Amino acid sequence: MRTNLKKYPVLFYYFCEKHSQMKKTFTIQELVSLLSCEGQEEEALFHKAQQVKNENVGNLVYLRGLIEISNICVKDCLYCGIRHSNNATTRYSLSDEEVLEAAHFAHVHHFGSIVLQGGERSDHDFTLRITRLLHQIKEQSNGELGITLSLGEQTLEVYRQWREAGAHRYLLRIESSNPHLYKRIHPQNALHSFNVRRHCLNLLRECDYQIGTGVMIGLPFQTLEDLACDLQFLQDIDIDMVGMGPYLEHHNTPLYAVRHLLLSQEERLSLSLRMIALLRLMMPNINIAATTALQAIDPFGREKALQIGANVVMPNITPTSNRSLYALYENKPNTHEGAQETMHALEQSILQSGCHIAYSKWGDSLHFTTRNRNILSPPKD
Ligand code: 5AD
Repeated sequence: MRTNLKKYPVLFYYFCEKHSQMKKTFTIQELVSLLSCEGQEEEALFHKAQQVKNENVGNLVYLRGLIEISNICVKDCLYCGIRHSNNATTRYSLSDEEVLEAAHFAHVHHFGSIVLQGGERSDHDFTLRITRLLHQIKEQSNGELGITLSLGEQTLEVYRQWREAGAHRYLLRIESSNPHLYKRIHPQNALHSFNVRRHCLNLLRECDYQIGTGVMIGLPFQTLEDLACDLQFLQDIDIDMVGMGPYLEHHNTPLYAVRHLLLSQEERLSLSLRMIALLRLMMPNINIAATTALQAIDPFGREKALQIGANVVMPNITPTSNRSLYALYENKPNTHEGAQETMHALEQSILQSGCHIAYSKWGDSLHFTTRNRNILSPPKD
């Protein structure tokens, strides 16, 4: 289908400055309007985002095998099912052998890279253990497996230590770029400071990681303006990778008490897809993940995201016995399937969404590569 943007005046106005040149910056008002577009206009937005994705990063999907190493967490985020105060959750920590085995699975199945994710901890035993695991994973995969970390706020020294041990990408969601909203969804103490989290993104950049961040979409108290500002925030800090998805309520969390304020799950899904499509227009060469939370609402949520802008999927390869315990939100999908089954089903549906899996590739963010080249060789005048 070729979409004639002229048929959709709003989109035509937004996307075409001169002839077919696309606008990469939007005002907050424009973003708010696009975040609520419907019907043919939404279709045109998705179509344009798909085109921009294919032209800039191709229709390849990169895999990161997600290993949820532990649900032990020192934080008490008001939305999260593994928050420290949730006594109803059985806590676990994978053994070194289990982590190494999952990494081996990813390597032999040609995933190209893995993500080590876990509840937040910054004690010395923990940070040293991660350093050791990074060395071991690099060694057992002959340096072939790319490693992304998603282990929360740490000091510059720890980020540096992990970077030197072999991790080269780091995911740290800002959750919301609006400090006031951030305050409403976190306890009011030094452990949950917006400024510290924001600062950590700077520290990660200092250590030369490819940096990913993201937000939750459809949070209680969140407005379309907030989401529009989130998109501008991602563009302003010149991020390399983004993972964002719908907020999903969890009954053992304080935010459950305000669930009557939420949009329906279907609306949160649609909003998430529009966020992804708009971000692709604004940042054509970054990596965007099709997150698991999309799949929790719609079995094909991730595939829909891949069609309209996302290019990364993180299949869960945590040993099945522990997967259901890493419940950030309710109805988390694939908690009972083995890694092999998850993989097979995913391969099929990625193909059906018209994309191809890039096996054995790190799939680094093109944005990072160009951003660094610009720093290394400033333009001649
Ligand atoms: N709904 C959706 N996403 C959540 N996360 C945590 N809790 C929830 C929830 N209830 C996300 C946060 C965190 C990531 C690991 O999972 O954005 O950074």
